[in-house]
Amino acid sequence: MKTLIMDRTGIEQAAEIIKSGGLVAFPTETVYGLGGDALNPQASEKIYAAKGRPSDNPLIVHVCSVDQIVPLVQTLTEDAEKLMKAFWPGPLTIILPKSELVPEETTGGLQTVALRMPEHAYALELIEKSGTPIAAPSANTSGRPSPTEAAHVYEDLNGKIEMILDGGTVGIGVESTIIDLSGEIPALLRPGAITREELSEVLGKAVEIDPAILSGSVEAGIAPKAPGMKYRHYAPEAQMHLVQAAGADVQSEADRCVAEEIIRLAESDLAVGKRVGILCCEETEALYDGKAAGADLKILGSRQHPLSMTHNLYRQLRAYDTDRIEVIYAEAYSDEGVGFALMNRMRKAAGGSVLICRKHQEPG
Ligand code: TXA
Ligand code: MG
Repeated sequence: MKTLIMDRTGIEQAAEIIKSGGLVAFPTETVYGLGGDALNPQASEKIYAAKGRPSDNPLIVHVCSVDQIVPLVQTLTEDAEKLMKAFWPGPLTIILPKSELVPEETTGGLQTVALRMPEHAYALELIEKSGTPIAAPSANTSGRPSPTEAAHVYEDLNGKIEMILDGGTVGIGVESTIIDLSGEIPALLRPGAITREELSEVLGKAVEIDPAILSGSVEAGIAPKAPGMKYRHYAPEAQMHLVQAAGADVQSEADRCVAEEIIRLAESDLAVGKRVGILCCEETEALYDGKAAGADLKILGSRQHPLSMTHNLYRQLRAYDTDRIEVIYAEAYSDEGVGFALMNRMRKAAGGSVLICRKHQEPG
């Protein structure tokens, strides 16, 4: 199969592909999705096959209006309506008990369905023209960082899907926030650009966090409620380590402590001939100047703007793969606000490896 790459003029043709049970990758505001007809079990099976994804890992169903979800769920709860009104279209996925109409192939055998209305003109137009909700996981090979531009999709899925709609680089760069409203208490299953605090505020009640998110690694043995969160994910080929400071109260001290540790680790790997990457931010870049010569230094973004960092994360991780980097040392950042989503993806990319460095005690 030859994979076509089309601009917006290809949407009509893309809709025909979806209607006939084929697959089209398309841009959303978070990452590129790999779309198929959510109500067609064969289309969902094709999605799993193209990604090489385990079929117990449910797909997100994308809609272009709130009306479109009514036949897909048991009941549209008051909480769900509040969140849709506040955040749709936008980077929020809501889980509700599913109706008979949604095949179990799409939900990985679960009796709930994940729903989202993306905030991207191409995506909304594609769903509307297809006349059906579109199931779409991120359009990467299972395990690799999610695609944030059409070239990433092509790298992973060329020859496996009918078409890629090229909408340029996406904005947010990490996947949507997932909230589960199928239980007694609303639960955050995956952090994203819409924060837990924002969700709580709109709902007027607490949102619990799936403990699996906090543990940061599958090895901790807590099974996440979003099946996809249990797999090694978002990961570059290289072994990645996060480096975090302990015991430094002042930001500049913490920054220096982390940079010194990263430089020390990088230099010892470089000395034995390893290909080393360093991931830092605009605010700390100067600390690495002229140090660890030969390391591949990349900038994530500005700490002042966490969305600049989410925007670049997967692109930079993929770039390390292209550069055949074997070890990456990355600075750890604050878990506050959108930082929680950023750090969640970085911890997963690192397989949970977080190295703690301590400030040197001044003698005397
Ligand atoms: O931003 C996004 O959400 C992107 C774009 C394309 O919309 N999609 C995305 O899909 O990230 P995917 O398949 O890569 O991640 C979906 C996550 C998985 O962790 C999956 O286990 C979880 O959502 N999920 C889907 N349906 C679920 C359900 N019924 N219950 C619990 N978790 C569910
Ligand atoms: Mg994914």
